[in-house]
Amino acid sequence: MAEYKVASVSDFEDGSKLLVSIGGVEIGVFRLGDAFYAWRNVCPHQGGPVCQGRIFKRVIENIDADRKLHGLLYDETVRHIVCPWHGAEFDIRTGRHAGTKKLALDPIEAVVHNGEIVLHVD
Ligand code: FES
Repeated sequence: MAEYKVASVSDFEDGSKLLVSIGGVEIGVFRLGDAFYAWRNVCPHQGGPVCQGRIFKRVIENIDADRKLHGLLYDETVRHIVCPWHGAEFDIRTGRHAGTKKLALDPIEAVVHNGEIVLHVD
């Protein structure tokens, strides 16, 4: 497995993403706080460029104790990548689809070494 430096941590803002191509493999790299996540840019639904999708906070229903719905809220703790082809949503931290366990993104190992974000790619 080869290592590739793709960015300096100091140049990679919280909440941002970077798309890279390594040996013909397209990869999306995402930063949330001090953590970095990398996924192959291939949607498990129908192969769309999922990492090029927009990033949104998870949307949840605002239901009170009497089970009445009061619209929708953003969940401030979870960020989703929304695939640009058909709108499937994936948790940036886990790569899992928001609604089914059958779909998940293909991970690439991302580590920080000497202030650089390093990907381990087959
Ligand atoms: S290819 Fe990504 S949602 Fe269909």
